[in-house]
Amino acid sequence: MAKRTGMVAALDLGTAKTCVVVGEVGERGIEVCGIGEAPSRGLRKGAIVHVESTVQAIRKAVAEAEQMARCEIRHVTASIGGSHVRGLSSHGVVAVRNGEVSVSDLSRVLDAARAVALPADREVLHVLPQEYIIDDQEGLREPIGIAGVRLEAKVHIITSQVAAAQNLVKCCKQAGIAVDDVVLGALASADAVLTPEEKELGVALVDIGAGTSDVVIFHGGAVRHTTNLPLGGQHLTNDIAAGLRTPTVEAEKIKRRFGCARAALVERHVEIEVPSVGDREPRVLSRHILCEIIEPRVEEIFQLVAREIIRSGYEEVLASGVVLVGGSVLLDRITDVAERILRLPVRIGIPHHVTALADLVASPIHAASIGLLLAGGDGGKPVRLHATRTDGLLGRVRHRMGEWLRDFF
Ligand SMILES: Nc1ncnc2c1ncn2[C@@H]1O[C@H](COP(=O)(O)OP(=O)(O)OP(=O)(O)O)[C@@H](O)[C@H]1O
Ligand SMILES: [Mg+2]
Repeated sequence: MAKRTGMVAALDLGTAKTCVVVGEVGERGIEVCGIGEAPSRGLRKGAIVHVESTVQAIRKAVAEAEQMARCEIRHVTASIGGSHVRGLSSHGVVAVRNGEVSVSDLSRVLDAARAVALPADREVLHVLPQEYIIDDQEGLREPIGIAGVRLEAKVHIITSQVAAAQNLVKCCKQAGIAVDDVVLGALASADAVLTPEEKELGVALVDIGAGTSDVVIFHGGAVRHTTNLPLGGQHLTNDIAAGLRTPTVEAEKIKRRFGCARAALVERHVEIEVPSVGDREPRVLSRHILCEIIEPRVEEIFQLVAREIIRSGYEEVLASGVVLVGGSVLLDRITDVAERILRLPVRIGIPHHVTALADLVASPIHAASIGLLLAGGDGGKPVRLHATRTDGLLGRVRHRMGEWLRDFF
């Protein structure tokens, strides 16, 4: 991308905002040099529905980031999300060729594991190794060099609609940038905010954006379950707009400024001014009423998250609890509601290891962008370690996978 060596750029294309971050990823951490943001107008529930608006938002965010970082962005690692993304478990088995497991055996077993029957309109986005089994030795994470005759890989596969990635690449191309790699947004967020210990002990990452919420469950250092729920901050805003009879733009401002997920903590006598629809006069309403609209919707989101956690079968082993990211978790007291409904310890995830411009990006709303930088950067091992990505439609060249594997083992 940029002309300075070692610099990488990330594009987080969300339902509410298009964010581009430029930085250098090294041993010492992530040195962010520039960030650009534009409101997204061409996406619905994480999927591109209007090309021209999306291209404009990408152009604006890229131009802002370029100006701040004083570099030229040519390539990005981009996020993908939405209800078309699915996760499933799979496994593959191969015979070990020369008595001990080599990089090529590993590559073949992952190929075997990713060979699931998919409809023509879907493709494999990620193949995430969980464990390897050599003969009767189970639970291996680094099988290279181990002697045996039969190698098995257990993996979690993430698939997406071919058209969704095609639209993403097309919009970027029209905005003048090439897409190096596409990463599930919530996986990128996870790598920006979770510690290896949390992933080991068991943790659920919940990314609550504007149009969708993603749940990614880790245990034993690997992804065990991924899902996408069609609910997010936009639904809170729509509820406020309908409940307080105010335009959506005003509802959004009121939510950010006065919103609280626990109505009981908001005094009834505190008043807020609410603009009316049309030419009517603004009204003065109790802030408590606003929070009574917000709380049930937040509860609904976490009830769906709870159901997903139970569905995954990992609810008993999430010793590290839940980590929340995404713009909607900036809502005051959201962790209180999350803890009450999920019955697990909850924390807000802030991207770690950011060494420059931390004040601009140290927020749960930027978790995906920073995770994408990690995925694109040289020091991006946290992402790659557990997220062996394979080429989909995006022409992700296969030999890179071999390079990563050589890097790790
Ligand atoms: N201070 C705040 N309080 C409450 N909600 C907030 C606050 N700031 C931002 N939000 C909400 O966060 C949402 C945007 O979050 P984010 O940028 O993570 O979404 P996105 O990535 O664009 O969307 P998605 O991931 O769903 O495609 C919006 O719905 C916005 O209303
Ligand atoms: Mg998002």
